[in-house]
Amino acid sequence: MRMVILGAPGAGKGTQARLISESQGIPQIATGDILRQAVREGTPLGREAQVYMDRGELVPDSVMIGLIRERLSCEDCANGFILDGFPRTLEQAKALNALLSDLGKPLTHVFDVEVPREELLKRLTGRRVCRQCSASFHLEFNPPRQEGVCDHCGGELFQRADDNAQTVGKRLDVYGEQTKPLTAFYRELGVLTTIDGTRDIGEVRKEFADLLGAVSTKQG
Ligand code: AP5
Ligand code: MG
Ligand code: ZN
Repeated sequence: MRMVILGAPGAGKGTQARLISESQGIPQIATGDILRQAVREGTPLGREAQVYMDRGELVPDSVMIGLIRERLSCEDCANGFILDGFPRTLEQAKALNALLSDLGKPLTHVFDVEVPREELLKRLTGRRVCRQCSASFHLEFNPPRQEGVCDHCGGELFQRADDNAQTVGKRLDVYGEQTKPLTAFYRELGVLTTIDGTRDIGEVRKEFADLLGAVSTKQG
């Protein structure tokens, strides 16, 4: 299965992509995580991306498309992948379609996880992320078993630099202007499924599992 998960900042893309990756055995490709790692390592990509990320703006399409082209050519994507945070502009979506149709491997699923803005603000400002494996937790909605420590790998939890109230507002505006229009693009292609992301993590997880089960049986 070759999947895109769309949704606003804080919708739960990363949380659900990780769960699907574990259950389906295909990689989660989170462009935000890849960029944050590049920033930490101080690579040329990281130095370029950091300026945009700190402002809550999008990293240029040419950079992101090159990054995804390279990542999707890796061996571990041969049996499928979950894109979390890509595409985010119409140009990225069109480039992805072109790339996958060249390979004869079009997208099989595009999900749009919908959550209203007030709820997104609460999720983002209370989020804590693992420094080692990037897992997301929430102080109130999804607390780790031990405060400040990742349940999965024991890594240290921290607050993302772009999860402050000001940058969060900007990210949500950028999402509305540049990424939301992708739902119409994918709806027209007939591959879009909308998911109500306001329910708790387990319920959203179950809906994904039901939909994926149903679709994979249908497709054989
Ligand atoms: P990125 O890292 O992708 O951030 P984002 O899109 O803003 O999305 P988030 O990671 O904030 O949210 P999420 O949907 O993954 O939510 P999560 O599961 O963590 O991108 C960061 C930056 O990188 C961008 O601003 C841009 O600069 C750059 N970038 C990345 N990709 C790019 C691209 N393609 N093009 C250009 N630039 C790009 O959940 C959020 C919180 O809510 C957590 O605390 C979680 O525990 C909690 N939660 C999750 N689900 C639920 C639930 N059902 N109920 C209650 N709480 C929940
Ligand atoms: Mg994320
Ligand atoms: Zn971890």
